[in-house]
Amino acid sequence: MDLKVGVIGTGGIGQEHIRRLTNVITGAKVTAVSDINEGTAQKIAEKYGAKFYKTGEEVINAPEVDAVVIASWDQTHAGYVLESIKLGKYVFCEKPLATTADECKDIMNAEIQSKRHLVQVGFMRRFDRGYRELKEIIKSGKLGSTLMIHACHRNLTHIPSHTTDMTITNSGIHEIDISRWLLDEEYESGQVLTVKQNCNSSKELLDPQIIQLKTKSGVRIDVEVNMSSGYGYDIQCEIVCEKGAVRLPDPNKPLVRYNCQRSYEIYEDWSQRFIEAYDIEFQEWVNSVKSNKLTGPNSWDGYIACVTADALIKSRNIGAAQDILTIDKPQFYK
Ligand code: NAI
Repeated sequence: MDLKVGVIGTGGIGQEHIRRLTNVITGAKVTAVSDINEGTAQKIAEKYGAKFYKTGEEVINAPEVDAVVIASWDQTHAGYVLESIKLGKYVFCEKPLATTADECKDIMNAEIQSKRHLVQVGFMRRFDRGYRELKEIIKSGKLGSTLMIHACHRNLTHIPSHTTDMTITNSGIHEIDISRWLLDEEYESGQVLTVKQNCNSSKELLDPQIIQLKTKSGVRIDVEVNMSSGYGYDIQCEIVCEKGAVRLPDPNKPLVRYNCQRSYEIYEDWSQRFIEAYDIEFQEWVNSVKSNKLTGPNSWDGYIACVTADALIKSRNIGAAQDILTIDKPQFYK
């Protein structure tokens, strides 16, 4: 039987997820939707044969909803996750899990009290074929211990409302999650460095920024987070080990010879670059919900990402590296 999914937020990624739940993956059906932009949500409801609800809370409470996908703005995530846990419903929450570490702690406490793992966070890079291959290679040990990661996250351009902090909490958060997932270890400290301002970014936005992280074993990670690359959406990662190095493959695109040049296309945004990762992420989520055993990134991962982002923002504001201090990992998440 299909898993009946309610989706809150029918903007950019919400519509993408509704399309993939309906047309790409198997075992799920979108039965209810809601958005504060009621017109869009009503059109989407009609297009996919789902029921429109005025509020996210109504979607979560709807009898025809077994599991919830949250794809609304960041600051709304925690409230909807808590409501879903209260009703004992599985919930897939787009990143970030919440906008503060305290909200993440509330979510973990509620989940622990419910005695069930109900929450998955939308860190889709863990489902990308390239990142999975990188992890396999470094885990095999043939390159020796990992020493450094050099990464970069470049957007073509940024939305007008993008802020200096969102570069860390909304974009850099993918890098925070994927590096600790690749390395299987936690961070000790971190710092954000500012760079000469890109004249193509809005004046209010400090852009680019460089994230530096150090893990407990001493691995150093540096990430350029650049919201106005001017040429495309480009995600790179190179892992340097004792006996070799390994680089994230660029997505497979045909090599074009034309006009005395050889060229590859570079994607414009995340929806194209990670399309396969999102498909795998949702298929695995639906399968794991149906077998009552979530396997994807959980509330603890969402909490670590928020704590790390907070420390990075503080480091930029005061101009010094910060320790990344977390609570002890609850037994429930071990
Ligand atoms: P968007 O602005 O295109 O869509 C968000 C939608 O949520 C809008 O239609 C808005 O009206 C609606 N909304 C806002 N508050 C609401 C509320 N209280 N209840 C119901 N609907 C509400 O934004 P986008 O790009 O779709 O991002 C949505 C979320 O997905 C964000 O949290 C973002 O961080 C995350 N995201 C994750 C990505 C990933 O790679 N995993 C990529 C893009 C976005």
